[in-house]
Amino acid sequence: MTDTRGGQYLALSCSIFSEYSVARGDGQRVRSCGAFARLRYGVADVMRLVRLIIWVVIGYLTRSDALYIGLGAAAVQAFHGAWENKSKMNTAKLTLNGKDYELPVVVGSEGEVGIDISNLRAQSEAVTLDPGYGNTGACKSAITFIDGDKGILRYRGYPIEQLSEHAKFPEVAYLLIYGNLPNETQLREWRKKLTDNSYIHEDMIRFFDHYPPTAHPMAILSAMVASLSTYYPDIEDEDNWNLNIVRVLAKAKTIAAFSYKKSIGQPVVYPLAKNSYVANFLRMMFATPAEPYEVPEVLERALNLLLILHADHEQNCSTSTVRMVGSGHANLYACISAGICGLWGPLHGGANQEVIDMLKAIKADGGNYKKYVELAKDKNSGFKLMGFGHRVYRNFDPRAKILKKSADDVLKELGIKDPLLDIAKNLEEVALNDSYFVERKLYPNVDFYSGIIYRAMGIPVNMFTVMFALGRIPGWIAHWKEMREEPGSRIHRPRQIYTGEKERNYIPVGKR
Ligand SMILES: CC(C)(COP(=O)(O)OP(=O)(O)OC[C@H]1O[C@@H](n2cnc3c(N)ncnc32)[C@H](O)[C@@H]1OP(=O)(O)O)[C@@H](O)C(=O)NCCC(=O)NCCS
Repeated sequence: MTDTRGGQYLALSCSIFSEYSVARGDGQRVRSCGAFARLRYGVADVMRLVRLIIWVVIGYLTRSDALYIGLGAAAVQAFHGAWENKSKMNTAKLTLNGKDYELPVVVGSEGEVGIDISNLRAQSEAVTLDPGYGNTGACKSAITFIDGDKGILRYRGYPIEQLSEHAKFPEVAYLLIYGNLPNETQLREWRKKLTDNSYIHEDMIRFFDHYPPTAHPMAILSAMVASLSTYYPDIEDEDNWNLNIVRVLAKAKTIAAFSYKKSIGQPVVYPLAKNSYVANFLRMMFATPAEPYEVPEVLERALNLLLILHADHEQNCSTSTVRMVGSGHANLYACISAGICGLWGPLHGGANQEVIDMLKAIKADGGNYKKYVELAKDKNSGFKLMGFGHRVYRNFDPRAKILKKSADDVLKELGIKDPLLDIAKNLEEVALNDSYFVERKLYPNVDFYSGIIYRAMGIPVNMFTVMFALGRIPGWIAHWKEMREEPGSRIHRPRQIYTGEKERNYIPVGKR
């Protein structure tokens, strides 16, 4: 009897390859990993597995020419599948005014499919229209992956649950910006650079004197970060880029803390070299020159967690703003300042402040949370449940899940009983069982519980969005860097569909 094992392996390989090709041809979501793929299992996949097993059994039982028949059939199927794959998955067809256009299809490393329309206008003179960008991929990015249906969030491949449990914020910042977790030496050097660059130019401290005491800290943060560019010029080389990256990260927390100190009329407190990034921020916020200050461990832990959870969230109002401004090659400080403004609004980072205001209003109204759930459902009320809903998460926000538990732990450790936490939990329970919220897939987002923790930490409500910004700065930097380093990146310049007046003649003012 001839040894047919080599042939069997070959037949097996061909079969697997053909199954893989067919899976792709069917438009299954696959994770590409060389020739083979990790499939998301469904009935069709089970059938493929059964077919595969039959091939193997036939090959084993016969050890004869039947094997070669199987081999041939598998090979034909493989080529057919590959051909189908090419024709079905690599292009999309658009018919416009009776003419067909082939559009390339791009598949991401997690199987996300995008139709590349970058040559559509040149070929057809048409543009796509997607107000709110809900269907538009503005870039390819290797930084953060979100699966909103499954509640998955990963930075550079690492699940948010693992990072929030084990990592420190500067480590996560390094990961986002440079692509990998730092080794011990890299981390030591990175931390030292962050500490050494914590100070701002002494002249800049006088800027704070000229803002009114009621100034919103987000206004001060964005203006001061843009002003950093006047002291630390932007030179287009790698060393200078890296230095400016450290400067923005290190100085933003100093600016945020100083703006708070100024707003309450206290002298600024300087960072200490021995302290961690997070501890230094807390020291600058809460220490006074008169008293020694030991950073409470529970606060350091809680803030570390909050900053990590906010560190990046792929494309969104603020991050896309950073990319947009950066695409015109504005300096890093200007881009981050623009991102801060993008974050400010109540539908984005400003929601954490709004959540506390809402919970306070409910408490002042006798704690009748059910009334506010009804109000949120009434389209004429103009009222929304702040901290609820998300463009991407349609199942749960993994950050909110982590923060809900952390809120309990932090308040317990600090010995605080906050009635707003009880109202928040009741509100969540009622809303999650209400068909209005269930049908629209509205769940608590990251802002729902973060405000309660900030409040327990003693951070004033108008600083909440600043805290979000401090967390998000590494993400903004990472996106800015990725965009600037991408070969052939162009200035962002969207199109529009004009719906205004047709040409008309100017009428002198007296005749209008
Ligand atoms: C986050 C948010 C801006 C997402 O907006 P979006 O993706 O454009 O979602 P939509 O506004 O299209 O909402 C879909 C539906 O849910 C409703 N909805 C969304 N969020 C709601 C909320 N917080 N309270 C009540 N209804 C809400 C909308 O009215 C809409 O109802 P409709 O289909 O009957 O018209 C939105 O959910 C929101 O404003 N939430 C409150 C602010 C907030 O917490 N922002 C922080 C985000 S991290």
